[in-house]
Amino acid sequence: MVDQSTSGTQPGHTSYPRVFSPGKIGTLTLANRSMVAPLTRTSATVDGKVLPPMVDYYAEFARGGWGLVIAEATYIDLAYSQGYNNQPGMAYGVQQQSWKPVVEAAHKAGMPIFLQIYHGGAINQGNHWKVDSISASPIQPLGEQIDRYGGEGPFQKPREITRQEMKEVVASYANAARLAADIGFDGIEVHGANGYLPDQFLTVYTNQRTDEYGGPLHNRLRFHLEVMQAVRDAVPNKPVGVRISQTKVNDLSYAWPGGIKDAEYIFPALAETGIDFIHVSAHLGAVPVFNQELSLAGLAKKLSGITIIGNGKLHDPKLAEDLIARGEVDFFSVGKGALADPAWARKIADGQAPIPFDPGMTSPLATIANTAAWRKKQAAKVG
Ligand SMILES: Cc1cc2nc3c(=O)[nH]c(=O)nc-3n(C[C@H](O)[C@H](O)[C@H](O)COP(=O)(O)O)c2cc1C
Repeated sequence: MVDQSTSGTQPGHTSYPRVFSPGKIGTLTLANRSMVAPLTRTSATVDGKVLPPMVDYYAEFARGGWGLVIAEATYIDLAYSQGYNNQPGMAYGVQQQSWKPVVEAAHKAGMPIFLQIYHGGAINQGNHWKVDSISASPIQPLGEQIDRYGGEGPFQKPREITRQEMKEVVASYANAARLAADIGFDGIEVHGANGYLPDQFLTVYTNQRTDEYGGPLHNRLRFHLEVMQAVRDAVPNKPVGVRISQTKVNDLSYAWPGGIKDAEYIFPALAETGIDFIHVSAHLGAVPVFNQELSLAGLAKKLSGITIIGNGKLHDPKLAEDLIARGEVDFFSVGKGALADPAWARKIADGQAPIPFDPGMTSPLATIANTAAWRKKQAAKVG
């Protein structure tokens, strides 16, 4: 706790009363409104099993005062879903059991933990199970493979997913959700954002289909809706939600072409599948969009009426407090700020300054080992 007599600052829990008030997501009550955003660390085995350093890494967040941790993008089948080398999986029993110590460590520290489930589609730069990739349409992804996840050069051109494969993928999302729930994950987030498979269906230039999954917006959102419906049905008793964004890992400038009109269809349609929350990711999560007075998260709240998690440079607790006060979000997640300081939430509550993010923490690779090495080097400099 900061010494009030000398610092003159209030402890965070009184400066940010809304951030540090309990909140409900589905049937679950969280101690406060802060969440660790999902963060890919490419630190599992080559065949997608969780390793001990990942357990320690998640345990550190669990002790860090957050309301919830959302564990990293985790692939759902032993076919085309894996996107990155050393990404963890939740496709079958062996991968499932390897996650158990993570869940146990979180729960031991009193922290609920959700799993983010993922299909990379065309964004495939490292797949232990398949060499080629699939997507809504055979369109080569923009940009270059992501170097912090060990990729280099252009992405390969995917082939068009078949209707049969689409059914199998939907079933795999449901299976992964069930496997996660069965070992005690407290909720499931489907990765519907950032340019991965569901977002490849939603995005105009990666979806050139002429069937009922292509063309107008209600067709392009159909795959998202089928996935969410299947996951909702697979896990009826725990919180289930979806992450949504406009931009992508390989395209930071994409915006929904219909602007507010698209938002008016997307958010209510997702909510109608019976999910508990929408996690809205934006580069600047607090900034109004589409010439409206609300952030994208605020629009999601207004248009869907369900629980909303905001994200995007919300490690400034004042921004988060204001978004909650204005009713734009119910919760907020922190990405780079959490990576920089796993105890961000506890420090804000205690009126202390968290360690700020530095790109060195995720370079040359965004692995847990590299972040640890960076911290050690900094500590040696200070010492
Ligand atoms: C190293 C790294 C890994 C990430 N991995 C994921 C991921 O697995 N799933 C996801 O939805 N977003 C992922 N993101 C995006 C973050 O969750 C978050 O949306 C982004 O960092 C913006 O929030 P911030 O401004 O608080 O950092 C990742 C970001 C970083 C920096």
